[in-house]
Amino acid sequence: MQKHIIITGASRGIGFETTKYLADKNVTVTAVARSGKKLSLLEEYNSASIHTLSLDITTKDASEIIYRHLKEHNLTIDGMIHNAGLLINKPFSELTDLDWDNQFRVNVLAPVSLTRNLLPMFNSGSHILNISSMGGFQGSDKFPGLSAYSATKGALSILTECLATELAEFNISSNCLCLGAVQTEMLNQAFPGFKAPVKPVQMAEYIANFCLNGHTFYNGKILPVALSNPS
Ligand SMILES: NC(=O)c1ccc[n+]([C@@H]2O[C@H](COP(=O)([O-])OP(=O)(O)OC[C@H]3O[C@@H](n4cnc5c(N)ncnc54)[C@H](OP(=O)(O)O)[C@@H]3O)[C@@H](O)[C@H]2O)c1
Repeated sequence: MQKHIIITGASRGIGFETTKYLADKNVTVTAVARSGKKLSLLEEYNSASIHTLSLDITTKDASEIIYRHLKEHNLTIDGMIHNAGLLINKPFSELTDLDWDNQFRVNVLAPVSLTRNLLPMFNSGSHILNISSMGGFQGSDKFPGLSAYSATKGALSILTECLATELAEFNISSNCLCLGAVQTEMLNQAFPGFKAPVKPVQMAEYIANFCLNGHTFYNGKILPVALSNPS
């Protein structure tokens, strides 16, 4: 039977390319992001395999919208890639409470509530894949301006270990990939002018295949995917 994977943050960058790669592999994908205009490019690419949902993952009804979509299309979940991310680049002394709140809402609290609320829709043998960053990997170099972002990614990393334990009884695996630099809009925000050695399409292939097969070999693991640090 055709697998079905939900991916957030699919309107550009790594999520956009991962959606296309999965669809090329004959996986049904529900692609989530706020920008409906950009998501429509994915439907044009492969309307048979790609469903799009234009929504903000931090809103109260996000899980409910996805849940209704799954019911309507008779879909269950084989994989969920929490890829959507926000990066606020500001010195620690200038970060406001609202900045911290927004960082945690997008990068941690939204994955938490989507996972919890959609839990009944996950199949036995399914895989939750959290997309973290080298900034959220313990012992990695840290960079000025990225304290809030890195702290959220650290939280997402540890959440991964907790989910692997808590969801073992349902035979749901959970892993976390801590990415190094990939040439996207977000990288430009973090390190303006930096040329990354990896293109989104290359990282997409790795992430897609890891989501499909990685949980045969790993569970509850926080894995760096980086050539060096930050790159
Ligand atoms: N690029 C890198 O070097 C790098 C390194 C380490 C980790 N990562 C991680 O990899 C993931 C993808 O990064 P990227 O570089 O591809 O980033 P990107 O180009 O900035 O894309 C971010 C995606 O997240 C979506 N998004 C943001 N807030 C959202 C919200 N509230 N609701 C729904 N969707 C939302 C955006 O879509 P809309 O604006 O349309 O909603 C967009 O599709 C992120 O988690 C990032 O932290 C990236």
